[in-house]
Amino acid sequence: MKLSHSICFLLLLTLSCASSSALAQDENPQNFVNCINLHSIDISELVYTQQHSNFTQTLLSSINNLRFPKPDTPRPLAIVTPVSESQIQSVIYCSKEQNLEMRIRSGGHSFEGLSYVSALPFVVLDLVKFKNFSFDAATETAWIGSGLTIGELYYNIGKQSNVLGFPAGLWANVGIGGHFSGGGYGMMKRKYGLAADNVEDACLIDANGRILDRKAMGEDWFWAIRGGGGGSFGVVISWKVKLVPVPEIVTVFRVSRTLEQNLTTIFHKFQSVAPKLPKELDIRADIQSILSNASLRADNRTITIGFDSLYLGRANSMFSAVEEYFPELGLVREDCVEVNWLQAMMHFTNLEFSTPPEILLNSTVLPRPAFKSRNDVVQVPIPVQGLEGLWEKMYQIAPQQATLQFTSYGGRMDEIAESALPFPFRAGSLYELNMFVQTETDEAERVEWIRGLGTYLTPYVSQNPRSAYVNYVDLWLGTNNLNGTTSYEQASKWGKRYFRNNFDRLVKIKSVVDPCNFFRHEQSIPVISAGKISLCDP
Ligand SMILES: Cc1cc2nc3c(=O)[nH]c(=O)nc-3n(C[C@H](O)[C@H](O)[C@H](O)COP(=O)(O)OP(=O)(O)OC[C@H]3O[C@@H](n4cnc5c(N)ncnc54)[C@H](O)[C@@H]3O)c2cc1C
Ligand SMILES: *[C@@H]1O[C@H](CO)[C@@H](O)[C@H](O)[C@H]1NC(C)=O
Ligand SMILES: *[C@@H]1O[C@H](CO)[C@@H](O)[C@H](O)[C@H]1NC(C)=O
Ligand SMILES: *[C@@H]1O[C@H](CO)[C@@H](O)[C@H](O)[C@H]1NC(C)=O
Ligand SMILES: *[C@@H]1O[C@H](CO)[C@@H](O)[C@H](O)[C@H]1NC(C)=O
Ligand SMILES: *[C@@H]1O[C@H](CO)[C@@H](O)[C@H](O)[C@H]1NC(C)=O
Ligand SMILES: *[C@@H]1O[C@H](CO)[C@@H](O)[C@H](O)[C@H]1NC(C)=O
Ligand SMILES: *[C@@H]1O[C@H](CO)[C@@H](O)[C@H](O)[C@H]1NC(C)=O
Repeated sequence: MKLSHSICFLLLLTLSCASSSALAQDENPQNFVNCINLHSIDISELVYTQQHSNFTQTLLSSINNLRFPKPDTPRPLAIVTPVSESQIQSVIYCSKEQNLEMRIRSGGHSFEGLSYVSALPFVVLDLVKFKNFSFDAATETAWIGSGLTIGELYYNIGKQSNVLGFPAGLWANVGIGGHFSGGGYGMMKRKYGLAADNVEDACLIDANGRILDRKAMGEDWFWAIRGGGGGSFGVVISWKVKLVPVPEIVTVFRVSRTLEQNLTTIFHKFQSVAPKLPKELDIRADIQSILSNASLRADNRTITIGFDSLYLGRANSMFSAVEEYFPELGLVREDCVEVNWLQAMMHFTNLEFSTPPEILLNSTVLPRPAFKSRNDVVQVPIPVQGLEGLWEKMYQIAPQQATLQFTSYGGRMDEIAESALPFPFRAGSLYELNMFVQTETDEAERVEWIRGLGTYLTPYVSQNPRSAYVNYVDLWLGTNNLNGTTSYEQASKWGKRYFRNNFDRLVKIKSVVDPCNFFRHEQSIPVISAGKISLCDP
């Protein structure tokens, strides 16, 4: 089916932002429910208030950090799962009318639960039903709904072609809406860059209910939604993506090494070699502490590193590339497994090669941990002494309860200018280091541990500003004030870390396109045009 941008036609429904100001906050969902029933047809079945028998199930359906569903976690007054653009417009309109916050949820993978938790009375706009996938063979593009998961996207692409793919993340349940909004990367970033680098158009609903495509929103706004972080610039309902060529046969390997197998030497080399590999080759690494018979320690523990790799080509040539660039790894030819691209994508989300790909459509297959995470960007390899201290830190936490994830950049990532999109980690950044600890037990202790780990890493990671990836959102970096007025200086604490020099442009765009700051959360981009705020606030 051929789709033009008529997909994103303009609906003339003008909503004003001043209407909210007169009304006090309303914690009873009834006025909100009445409002949307009045403004929308056939929506009542799609609204889940706390009294609804399916409320909890619907809320939990895409909570992907189980640190948040606790008895004292604030819950939305209502969750709405619209099936049409006009229903989304009603949710926006009625949230404003009732002075409620509105959180947008696509896949629910926000590390800090920003899509389904708020300290102020709020509703959740859940895009789970926006799962369109319209492929155009002639241009090798597709219009895709924000409610698709990346696994569903890969599945849909695989059904169309065995020589096309898309460079998004690894974990199949991650939602397109939030993922693309923050950049989004996986095992093909070194060849094709971010997911956001491959977006050609989008369809967005703004705070006034206008439906805008790229042309209608303009290049600044379109720039901001491709990496400036979800929840600040509008509800993106769909994206037009350029699919990328992949070979019919690709190759993967997954191998691990322990301290007793020279992990420290291997990893030290990995840091500088991984960003310089051929673009077709991406190697990522995960480090954990484990129990092992081979341990030389009294507590039987060691450190293990798992290397996961994708090569856009055949096994023999992958093997020779690894031998040439990274002989320290000690890879053998038998480690390299030839599969198709879709199987490789399933493998990276820990599904067996032989599983029917339909499993990617099942949102309950993958585990959902409770966790706290922090992350940094590394620009100079961490010296051996620094690594040895890091292993000591890992021994302070129960085996396999904490993971250090290393995502190497380089290749295509380096060729794109730092200002091309809000995501700033291009040339000069070696890799992203994500620290992750499970908090199902000993939450307080573990959270403190990961705080200390961040402190330990200070001398080894990017500084001025110390940097972080907005899709790995971390509220420890600071938060907006609840009343909606946050200074540029305050928001710079996290804004400069996520976006570096691109932060200022994001603030300018935000101030123009959402002057009343309707789209807000703990770390949304602030509005600075102080003069205009009086139009919106009481
Ligand atoms: C287990 C796991 C694995 C991950 N793996 C990767 C990976 O391999 N690569 C990578 O780059 N990232 C990865 N991430 C991070 C992921 O990209 C972000 O968490 C992303 O924001 C999730 O999008 P979502 O739609 O699932 O999340 P949500 O929680 O629904 O949304 C995240 C944020 O975006 C906003 N938002 C959601 N939808 C929209 C929309 N349609 N329009 C505007 N704003 C919206 C939300 O309000 C929220 O602030 C992973 C996260 C987890 C938990
Ligand atoms: C409740 O949720 C289940 C599973 O998602 C669904 O099958 C059922 O139709 C829902 N019931 C209502 C009344 O929405
Ligand atoms: C996408 O899906 C939504 C929800 O099912 C629907 O309302 C919308 O019209 C669809 N858009 C296209 C272009 O198919
Ligand atoms: C570890 O490295 C040393 C020298 O660097 C080498 O002699 C030894 O064989 C290596 N051990 C393993 C298990 O690879
Ligand atoms: C450790 O040693 C025990 C006893 O020799 C053996 O049964 C077990 O399989 C070993 N575990 C591993 C992980 O090698
Ligand atoms: C370590 O392993 C040895 C041999 O398997 C076992 O006897 C000993 O109890 C273990 N020590 C600890 C602290 O687990
Ligand atoms: C999805 O996966 C779960 C867990 O593996 C399973 O119980 C369920 O039956 C699956 N659903 C479908 C529709 O296959
Ligand atoms: C908003 O909150 C901040 C800090 O909580 C406070 O300094 C500021 O004065 C408040 N602004 C308004 C308009 O209430």
